[in-house]
Formats: sequence, C-alpha cells, structure tokens
Amino acid sequence: MPGAVERLSDALDCPLPEAPSNPTDIVAFLDECGSPSTMASAGGRYFGFVTGGALPATLAANYLAGAWDQNCFSFVSSPAIACFEEAALRWIKEALGLPKSAEGALVTGATMANFTCLAAARNKVLKDYEWDVDRQGLFGAPDLTIVLGEEAHVSLFKVLSLLGLGRDRVITVPVDDQGRMRPGGLPSVNGPTIVCIQAGNVNSGAFDPAQQIIEWARNAGTWVHVDGAFGIWALASSKDAHLADGVVDADSWATDAHKWLNVPYDSGVALVRDRNALAQAMSITGSYLMATDHRDAMNFTPDSSRRARAVEIWAALKSLGRSGLADLVNRNCRQAQSLANGLRQEGVEILNDVVLNQVVVAFGDDDKTSRVISTIQDSGVVWCGGTKWRGRIAMRISVSSWATTDEDVERSLSAILEAHLQN
Ligand SMILES: Cc1ncc(COP(=O)(O)O)c(C=O)c1O
Repeated sequence: MPGAVERLSDALDCPLPEAPSNPTDIVAFLDECGSPSTMASAGGRYFGFVTGGALPATLAANYLAGAWDQNCFSFVSSPAIACFEEAALRWIKEALGLPKSAEGALVTGATMANFTCLAAARNKVLKDYEWDVDRQGLFGAPDLTIVLGEEAHVSLFKVLSLLGLGRDRVITVPVDDQGRMRPGGLPSVNGPTIVCIQAGNVNSGAFDPAQQIIEWARNAGTWVHVDGAFGIWALASSKDAHLADGVVDADSWATDAHKWLNVPYDSGVALVRDRNALAQAMSITGSYLMATDHRDAMNFTPDSSRRARAVEIWAALKSLGRSGLADLVNRNCRQAQSLANGLRQEGVEILNDVVLNQVVVAFGDDDKTSRVISTIQDSGVVWCGGTKWRGRIAMRISVSSWATTDEDVERSLSAILEAHLQN
C-alpha cells in the first residue's frame, strides 16, 4: 500500500514509553500499522529472491511452538523438541535420500547451514593433517584449499571469512553459460582441500555437475560440500531429481527449509555425513548444562539457546508427505516453465535454460529492464526482483511457494507483459 511504510516509520518514531501498554492495543497497532506495510511474500504472486510461503500447518505449528516458548539447546531443556528435532532430521534425510547416519543441525538459514557444514569440514580435513583447529585455532595451520565455482552464492564468501578461511584465498573454477562449474577447470590439489558444489544457482537454477566433481574429489581426497539452499529439494521431485545426480554422495549438505519446504522464517538445515566431524566442530562442554545420554542439539549447532524450528519442519513434512513434497516441487517447476513460455511467446528474452523454478528475464537493454522491474513492483499484482546475470541487468522469477496457483501464474504473466508494453 503506497505510503504505508512511511506511516509506519512515523508511528514508530517516538521515545520508549514510560508506562506499560495493553497487549490488545499493541496487536491492534501491529495490524493497523505493520500489516499494510509488509511485503506480500506469503502470497502466491511473490516471486522475489527465492522465497517460500508458509504452509498452513507450519504457520499453526509456529504459533503453537511460540506459545510453548521452549529453549531447544538440549534434551533436558526441552525433551519434546529434542524428539521433534530427531524426527524432523530423519524425515528430511528420507525425503532427500541422504544417508540415514548423517547428523544435522537446524539453524537460521542456508548461510548458517553452510557455516556449520564448512566448520565441520575445515576441522576434519585439518585433523587428517594432524592439526586440531578446536584447540589450536588456525594460526600456523597447514594451508587449506577451498575450491568453488565462479558462480558460488555470495553468502558462501561471508561464511569463508567467518571461518577464518578468507574470501580471497579460494580457487574459483570457471563456469558455463548457466553458471555450472566446468569439471575440466578443476585444479590439481594436494593437502587439505574442500570443494563446494552448488545445487541450484540462485539465478539460473542450474546445478554443478556433482557426479564428475565428486569423482575428481575422491581421487584428490577432498571433502565435498553441497550448497543446496533451494535446489537440493529437486531430489524430492519425481521429475527433476536427475538434476541433482551425485549430490547424495557428498560429505555435507546445506539447505533452507524456509525456501522450498515452505516453513516460516527462519529455518535452515545442515547435514554432515560424518557425525563425529560435526560434533567435534560444534560440541560445547560445561557441567551446569546437564548433559544426558540423549542427543543434545547444542553439540551439533553453532548456537545454544534457540527456538523450536523442528516443529515447523516436522509439520511441513507431515502435511505434505512424500507425494505432496514431490507435487510441490514439480508444480513450481511447471509454473516456472509456463511463465517462461508465456514471456517468450511475446518476444521477451529468457536468459537461462529453465531447468528448475528460476527464470531470468530481460526486456531489452538494461535501462528498459530496470524500468519494467519497477513498474512490476509498483503494480501490486506480482513482485519480482532484479539481478545481474552474465553482465546484464535482468529480472528474476523464482517460483517457490505452495500458495502459487495456475491462476496466479496467468495473472502474473499478464501483469508482467503489461509492464513490458508500458515501458
Ligand atoms: C545457493 C544459495 N546459497 C545460500 C543462500 C543463502 O540463504 P539464506 O539467506 O537462507 O541464508 C541462498 C539464498 O538464496 C542461495 O540461493
């Protein structure tokens, strides 16, 4: 709603109240001033970034878990959530066909999931070279080589920086026109090495060729990590699982539940094949925390006190089942194809091979594309974001929500084409 954010900002521009307020009035204020200024990202015509909606069961689970207000760092602090967490992790592995024995951590998002997996990887590969990062830190450690594609997600570089591995020390492998690593460009390496594969490029949706990269990695003796923030859910699809061929053979996997699993923010998942490697990187020690023989989440996650993300993930998988999850992924991919075909038919340029749920669009030169994106965003009918793809300004459509109907696709297509004609 035009002006809503300004009104909200004005309404919030007041000093800390001296006296208490009535909770009912507070909720009324939130709804009157907050609701109209939110992004309609839970709706069926929001295609910005890569954004899932919130399945009804997950939103209800979120409300209930909020009311329970459990602190989920250990079994003792919340036995119920510890049970949900084990069940949720088991179901995620079953849904994606990942090894049953892999250990996991529920974190805020793919950035922290990548962080968690790569912390485990860093410590393990250096341990194999007689270096204990946990005790000694990184000062004086053997050189650790990180290999990733030129199109690795920007958040991965932040993770490398946080892990003390440096944004600029990486070896980048050239990519093809879809952003996939070219296996021929893999370097020869020796010493401790981690290679990061991408399952789902944030623009094109393309997958690095996991099978070939993993074959190279096994010969080179390196740890293979998969950043599958949204694309790894292709493994649950009855049509597109082939895109992720080989991914299950990696050593660790990071993904988001708040993207294609359609749970409320925030929710990411880290899975590591070698349980000890994750535990050794994340364990916390201290007697007052009252460890038991049960699984304590704090020994597998970077954080300690945390909310009950497991309940929403469990609710999503319970509400969808294996077939519902496959249908969701298949449907969104089909809808992405429909949008791409509808635009192409009207002479709009589609810049990527639409293999998954992502469509990269140009409406002409950079100026025109930028103008069309603004018109679309102002339309209030559909929301798509801008990006840069292979040197050009482009619009990105990401179809990732359970709430997107075929009618939404039709309405969105009309609104996008109208904006194209207006500019
Ligand atoms: C491939 C990839 N990796 C990592 C991320 C970061 O995810 P998050 O914002 O949930 O931390 C994204 C986000 O879109 C992504 O697409």
